[in-house]
Amino acid sequence: MNNFWDQRFSAVEYVYGTAPNSFVAAMALRIPAGPVLCLAEGEGRNAVHLAQLGHAVTAVDQSAVGLAKAARLAQEQGVALTTVVADLADFAITPGAWEGIIVTFGHLSPPLRRKVHAQVVAGLRPGGVFLLEAYTPAQLAFGTGGPKDRELLMTLQELREELTGLEFEHALECERDVIEGTYHTGRGAVVQILARKPV
Ligand SMILES: C[S@@+](CC[C@H](N)C(=O)[O-])C[C@H]1O[C@@H](n2cnc3c(N)ncnc32)[C@H](O)[C@@H]1O
Repeated sequence: MNNFWDQRFSAVEYVYGTAPNSFVAAMALRIPAGPVLCLAEGEGRNAVHLAQLGHAVTAVDQSAVGLAKAARLAQEQGVALTTVVADLADFAITPGAWEGIIVTFGHLSPPLRRKVHAQVVAGLRPGGVFLLEAYTPAQLAFGTGGPKDRELLMTLQELREELTGLEFEHALECERDVIEGTYHTGRGAVVQILARKPV
């Protein structure tokens, strides 16, 4: 166990819960049938939900501890899940392979985030969708979860620039109650996007 996330996920409980993120749940039916890639997926709550909807899901995270919990949740729910332990700095998203790519609260450094988002655009099949929810810099005033470093937070404008080539069907910065397990504990400032690759 060698990093912050392995330590956090070593708790017995699922620290962000086992229910899917509510934005992912609300948008899930807009993902075309087929393979879905969940990035920075942690303990697997979104991946398992999407597998239950019939998608062939691959979950990637740097935390082996988190993904072991994801695999266990999938097994308990009777669905298949492929897990890949990898730092996103080293993980290559296969171009043109995915009907959906999902990330919730994956707060990467801006250079890595830009690199991953360029791969997301290339990785989607035509008609495929990218779903993201993350904290914005305004979250620093709330103290209800997320990183304390402005660099790791993101704005809708930054995402629009990084995801050139996708069509934004849902693009929103808002305040909402984010209550997910132990570490997302209340009113928060988030950005949400559903962006589709043109057919
Ligand atoms: C706040 S948790 C969110 C987990 C999951 N997406 C969810 O919403 O339940 C952030 C996750 O990002 C992962 N992560 C952070 N930096 C990463 C990187 N460079 N490569 C892979 N995973 C990373 C962590 O291991 C952790 O699982």
